[in-house]
Amino acid sequence: MIRELLKPDDPILRKKAAKVTKFDGELKTIVKDLSETLEYTGGLGIAAPQVGIPFQIFVSALTGYPRVFINPQVVAYSKETSMMEEGCLSIPGYRGEVYRPNDVSISYLDQHGKKKIYAATKLLSKVLQHETDHLNGILYIDRMTKKDKFYQIIAYRIVFFGTPEFGLPILSTLVSLKYSFEYEVVGVVSSTDSTPIALAAKAQQIPIVTPISGSLKNPGFREALSALKPDIFVVASFGHIIPKEVLALPKYGAINVHGSLLPHYRGASPIQASLLNGDTQTGVTFFIMDEKMDEGAILGQKEIAIDPSDTYLTLSQKMAQESSATIPSILHRYLNGRIKPQPQDHTQATYTTIGGSSSTLITKESGYIDLKNPPEPKKITNMIRALTPWPGVWTKLETNGKTKLVKLLPNHKVQIEGKTPIPLEDFKRGYPDFKLDW
Ligand code: CO
Repeated sequence: MIRELLKPDDPILRKKAAKVTKFDGELKTIVKDLSETLEYTGGLGIAAPQVGIPFQIFVSALTGYPRVFINPQVVAYSKETSMMEEGCLSIPGYRGEVYRPNDVSISYLDQHGKKKIYAATKLLSKVLQHETDHLNGILYIDRMTKKDKFYQIIAYRIVFFGTPEFGLPILSTLVSLKYSFEYEVVGVVSSTDSTPIALAAKAQQIPIVTPISGSLKNPGFREALSALKPDIFVVASFGHIIPKEVLALPKYGAINVHGSLLPHYRGASPIQASLLNGDTQTGVTFFIMDEKMDEGAILGQKEIAIDPSDTYLTLSQKMAQESSATIPSILHRYLNGRIKPQPQDHTQATYTTIGGSSSTLITKESGYIDLKNPPEPKKITNMIRALTPWPGVWTKLETNGKTKLVKLLPNHKVQIEGKTPIPLEDFKRGYPDFKLDW
């Protein structure tokens, strides 16, 4: 569970925290919550008192080192000090320059109560000192000697690109990041000004930019975006190719949220493609966009299991939720130079192909089933999972000299155009010529 951070003036931040004596389930929950809160906020470390838990516990975000420290104590430190620009989740919106010892040795207990000692250098050493201070009621501002090197953070200006519902949870997470003072969504780009994303932006009073005369190559579109002075774009299911002159606008480029584990399923319909193929595993990929489709360097990926009961609707919701939970830490780590974008292995690339055509776009025809040459039952099931609600799976039934449109629905139901859906067995009793099975 993500815990709420205390306000900067909360007295708990200024008290010495109590020693941990019980290594039980409650401690485990606290550690889990601190880790999740840290992942969400993108900080380098978090101490329990910062979320109102007055015990000597902190968690570090640096991978490859010990992460959980209980009852920590600095037992030795180097004489040499150096300056680091520090920030703190408890002092949002600001940074300050702090001199601290380069190296420290710290004694602590791990999650199981086992006594340990760790000699830390560089960034880890500074993080351990900062977090140990928290447990003693000390904030980094108390360590500052040059008060003039304390300054306000200038928020990164984000422009979000999206069109359907898929982007809604991601947009709402990005908007909520304004409370950290590190980010501000300064504009939203959408196909038209009446899409789900555009309506959400309107409700939040965020300026909306739409392609002018339907074209992203129109110079007026580029100018409108440029006027927003974007630092970074976040793109999720936008539905248009973004020209390279537009991608070049923000200093930090454009992050795309793609519904597959790239380099697999490059193209416009990755979620449908994984369902059509009956995959049991997929994921989301965050990557830096370039002018080629879905080929940019990867910032991070999250795997997502596909349940046999998943449809396009449920799977895209899972992906949107997972993406919105992950985007803050991707942004923080990327913008602070803690992720090195990894080029894709282009030799492993696959592309979404829908309905046997080489097109990656889904059309009404993608859901058509030819009764003279029907796919395997398993394939039909997967088509229904992937193509419901749109374009739907459908066929044409000739009966009494008339052609009727028949829709194949989830849960083994069938619907003749204009009628209510009925179970497949009942339908077959009425139309014995209908032999389709799935
Ligand atoms: Co702090």
